Amino acid sequence: MRRRTRVEVYFTPEEVRAVDLAGATAVVIDVLRATSCIVEAIATGARAVHPAVSVEEAASVQVTLNGPGDRALLCGERGGLRIDGFDLGNSPAEFTAAAVGGRRLVMTTTNGTRAFAAARPAERVLAASFFNQTAVAEAVREDAAVAIVCAGKEGRFSLDDAVCAGHIVRAVLERAATPVTLADGAVAARDLAAVHEVSADMLAGTAAGQALIEVGLGSDLALCARADRHQIIPMMYDRVITAPRG
Ligand code: MLT
Repeated sequence: MRRRTRVEVYFTPEEVRAVDLAGATAVVIDVLRATSCIVEAIATGARAVHPAVSVEEAASVQVTLNGPGDRALLCGERGGLRIDGFDLGNSPAEFTAAAVGGRRLVMTTTNGTRAFAAARPAERVLAASFFNQTAVAEAVREDAAVAIVCAGKEGRFSLDDAVCAGHIVRAVLERAATPVTLADGAVAARDLAAVHEVSADMLAGTAAGQALIEVGLGSDLALCARADRHQIIPMMYDRVITAPRG
């Protein structure tokens, strides 16, 4: 029988049921800003990103990772801002080679790291943002089941993630060698991407973009809108995100 690819988009992690991810490739998206930071960090040479759901979990994971002369960096945000005592916040511009090259990072964010927790039952888990959207589409275009998991915003739909998901759906459709079936969420995301161009202005009009502007981090929007700035596809293996292995 001819193989097919089925693509679904979940607009919040709350919609995801473990049973739907069995055997699937999950693509986690949090454009503003967790997966933009993760793609940037792995592209600039971070050894690994350990996503943690809470600040307490991040602190305890850091303790297990620290070794002589090798301290894991704590990064992430609450209310958009760097958490007290953390090394880095959640702006992609902070994740330079000088800051994170060769280091392990423990990251906790309000929505993004929860989406990775929801995606754990999938067969493989990829991190995507506008930064690597085309490379991700290329990597999943022949998979039997692709589940795009948007981080959303505190349990609600977030336009920035949905538009990125839609661009990935469109790129899969353009590249697929096998027939593609789109579930309803994927159809909706595809159609949204047709009417929303990727730009800092589009991001500024979203609730997540407004929240960043309000805390003085509006300059992140132009960076997060830079499509296809990287080819790397961070992958999560047993709760640890790294560059693809092998
Ligand atoms: C999140 O995971 O909620 C975000 O990435 C939020 C942010 O960066 O401000």
